[in-house]
Amino acid sequence: MLAAYDALMARLLARAEVDAILVGDSVAMVMHGFPTTVHATVEMMATHTAAVRRGAPEQFIVADMPFLSARRGRDCAVAAAGQLMQAGANAVKIEGAAGHADIVAFLVESGIPVMGHLGLTPQAFHQLGGYRTQGRTPAAAAQLRDDAAALERAGVFALVLECIPPPLAKEITADLAVPTIGIGAGADTDGQVLVLSDLLGLDPDFRPRFAHRYREAHADVIGAVQAFAHDVRGAHRPIESEVPA
Ligand code: KIV
Repeated sequence: MLAAYDALMARLLARAEVDAILVGDSVAMVMHGFPTTVHATVEMMATHTAAVRRGAPEQFIVADMPFLSARRGRDCAVAAAGQLMQAGANAVKIEGAAGHADIVAFLVESGIPVMGHLGLTPQAFHQLGGYRTQGRTPAAAAQLRDDAAALERAGVFALVLECIPPPLAKEITADLAVPTIGIGAGADTDGQVLVLSDLLGLDPDFRPRFAHRYREAHADVIGAVQAFAHDVRGAHRPIESEVPA
């Protein structure tokens, strides 16, 4: 699974035959320049979900339920999830478990497939005190195992495990019947998820430790733009030969 937010990238991901596209609330940071995902709204998520759906009509699309949208009661959660589904999502993803497992169950009973997300849950950035590995103490690991079991009972069809020790991710994966999808949680989860721009190395200033860069695409972008500027500013102007007759 890869996180992407626009029609063009979705079209490329479909061509690359990725299993699922996540319209992550990381869109607030990557595309909108906010410091955290706390700034994502249902409207923002719906707009990007619709764009991704237009780019990838046949792909399985998961849309993130943004900050607090699963914490204001059933009506609010159903309205938010409904908006994302009508924008083109096949499922929604909800961070955390404590205090809203009943809402997850209610959405599932309402016919909305829900993916869980435990470990480093970026919407809780201010409470977690930063982007740190979770589940390191025996008590925290036990809590994560309990939360995973509670989400499975609530009916999630899959569970993202973000930034937890690999042995714990392996244990949770073995305990659950539903598949786990890891990010910074080692190799022993059922699937893996990355943000597309991290995989591509599009941001020279953001290098999450766990995200393997398959390219350094920022260098290609900067190099191509500099080449264009050089051509436009100099005598050599190949762009003119591109003008249709
Ligand atoms: O918002 C996002 O991109 C995510 C992934 C990192 C799992 O939730």
